Parts: sequence; structure tokens; C-alpha cells
Amino acid sequence: MSKHLADYGSAPVDFVRGQGSYIFDRNGKKYLDFQTGWCVGTVGWKNKEMAEAISAQAREGFHEPPWFRVERHEKFASRLVELAPGKLNRVFRACSGSEAVEFAIKAARAATGKPTIVSVDGVYHGHTYGAASVGNAGSRIGPIVPGFVKMKMPKTGVGFCKELEKIIVERGDVAAFLSEPVWTNAGCVIPPDGFYQEVQRICRKHKVLLVMDEVATCMGRCGKLFGSELWGIEPDIVTLGKSFTGGYATMAATMVTESVFQKARGISSHPTFGWMFQDLAAVEKNVEIIVRDDLAGNAATVGAYLLDLLKPLESLKKVKAVRGIGMVLAIEFRLPIAVLVAAKCYRLGLVVEFTDSKTLFLSPMLNLTKADARKGAEIIRAACGLK
Ligand SMILES: Cc1ncc(COP(=O)(O)O)c(C=O)c1O
Repeated sequence: MSKHLADYGSAPVDFVRGQGSYIFDRNGKKYLDFQTGWCVGTVGWKNKEMAEAISAQAREGFHEPPWFRVERHEKFASRLVELAPGKLNRVFRACSGSEAVEFAIKAARAATGKPTIVSVDGVYHGHTYGAASVGNAGSRIGPIVPGFVKMKMPKTGVGFCKELEKIIVERGDVAAFLSEPVWTNAGCVIPPDGFYQEVQRICRKHKVLLVMDEVATCMGRCGKLFGSELWGIEPDIVTLGKSFTGGYATMAATMVTESVFQKARGISSHPTFGWMFQDLAAVEKNVEIIVRDDLAGNAATVGAYLLDLLKPLESLKKVKAVRGIGMVLAIEFRLPIAVLVAAKCYRLGLVVEFTDSKTLFLSPMLNLTKADARKGAEIIRAACGLK
């Protein structure tokens, strides 16, 4: 085992290859993958169409620097605009979800001329300084970037929305409210009914931008192509990552309305590796398959089926809640046993994640079959001790 890699997980498994919804460790043991790189897997590992698209591009052996006009970039940006909700009309190229969040923060500040971004406490938005400051990854690296206000996650929408409006009015310097459509990495917490419609109303009233961090929820993960569609909202800025690539590229994007773009124009936004053709070939194909095969629809149907199979866990004393929407689900325990349950799942041939010591987290492939959903649910029920 190397002592030189700075950031690695603690699970004592070394996965070496994948096939569809399955991954294999160094010893050849086969696992059903309900983690898929944390909200990343879409069309299955070792997907033939993906492999062909990527290798065809690799054979071209060519990378266009970001400061030239590239027709292929323009074409794909237009495709995203066709697919996105509301009036999103311009696309910034990014290489990771964190970078997409950085662009969102920069665009919001530049477009409004105001510094403050309000967000929900306890939610991860990325590891770079701006993203860490707007999210929960800012500890021990202070001083963090100034200009962020965190609000407690709402149990009911009403108190939160009143407080949000108060902050906006009293401060007078709020550029944007930034949040996930579903708080995935806080344990798949689903906002209360009507919450985002009210947040949008308040934002519009006070000319505050609504930014949806869809790095984890985009491209079908929540049963719709974009999580924002769940609530019928039309954000001013949206970030894309993770399922955008299906795990085949390091690529992301930030989409903004024309009005935001015109006001934010000129901000620094030219990553050297922004949408390299090899990455682009993969993402173009991934998005094509997701739309063609209605994988958002499959995520909704098979995700609901999986949720139904897991709901009986709530009859156990140790289980506080089972939550899910599309292909993002969580099981919250009353005690810190998530790691133990995850370890049992591993032994039984299922890979799962945990968002904290009490919460198991699942984000299977968007094309998961009902048979594999049942198989995974049986392992989780066994690991939790449900007969
Ligand atoms: C909601 C959200 N935003 C941003 C990020 C950061 O993305 P990346 O890890 O690609 O930088 C993540 C990653 O987990 C995320 O879940």
C-alpha cells in the first residue's frame, strides 16, 4: 500500500474494473454498485457506446485550447440549453463540480455587483475555496472566503423563507441564494412542499439570483433531467457535474441566463482543460444515451421501486427514516452505525456510501434494473437485520 497518496478512503477494498451496475475487486469478487462514484454513474460501467465514443476521439489525438472558437463546444452548449429548464442560455465550461460552483459564485457577484451569497448550512458544495466557503468544507482552512451567510436547513419551509427575506432586506447586499434542489450529500433531505417556489418568489421580488447547485442532481439523478424541474422553478444559474459525465470524463458546466451572462461577461472563466475533446466525446454520448433511453424516467420508476423495498426498514427501532427521490436514497439510523452496516453490505457484495456516521447513502446507476434493485435491497435489509 502506497504511503504517498494524500487523499484516499478507508474502505479496505481495491476495485479494479466495472461492468454495468457491478464492480470487481482485485481478488475478482463481484459487488453490486449502489455508490457509483457518489451520484456519478449513469449508463453503467464499461458501456460499449461510451468506450467507442471515447476511443474514436482519442484516435483523433487533439486538444483545442480554450481561447479559440470551437464549433463543437458551441453545439454542445446549445444542446444543454435545449435540455435545461427555464431561461438558461449560456454555458461556462468547467472541469469539476467545485469549479462549476466557483463560476456560479463569481457570475452571481459580477452580475449583481453584490457580495453576499446565502446558502443552507451543512451542505457540501465542493472543495475549492469559494465552494468550500459556501458549503460545509471550510473548516481548518480559514480564513475562508468572506461574503457567505448560512441558514439552518428548513424542517418546514415557512420559517426559513421568512428568515431568508429578512436577511435579504436587512443586509441589502445579497447577490444570490445558492442551494441543491434536494440536499443529497446531507443525507438525501427533500425540501418541504412549496419550499423552492416560495424561495424563488422571494428572490425575484428582491432581485436576488436563484442558484441551483445541480452537480449531484443533474442529468436524471432525481428522476427528472434537472432537479429544479421537481419544483417547477427556473433558476438564474445552474451547475452541472457528476452524472453529467457518467464517470467517463472530468467535465462540468455552469449555465446562466442571458441576463446574468451579459452582466457577468468578462469574468475569468477559461480553464485550460475546459471541455477537452476526449471528455466532451464522453459527455456528449452520456447525455445522448440518458435522453434517448429516458434514464431520468428509469431513475424515477426503479428508484421508487427501490424506495418501496427499503421503506419497511422504518419498522426497525434503530432506523429513523428511509428517504429517496429517483436514484438518490438514504437510510438514517438513530445511532452511529452507518459504517458498520456499510461494512456488512460490502461483505454481502454490495457497495454503499454514508454521508455521516448515522446515514447510509445510495446513488445507483440511472439504468439500474428492477432485478438489481431487488438484489441490493435484500442485502441492505439483511445487513440491517430485517427478516
Ligand atoms: C452538490 C455538490 N456540489 C459540488 C460538488 C463538488 O464536485 P466535485 O467533486 O466534482 O468538485 C459536489 C461533490 O460531491 C456536490 O455533491
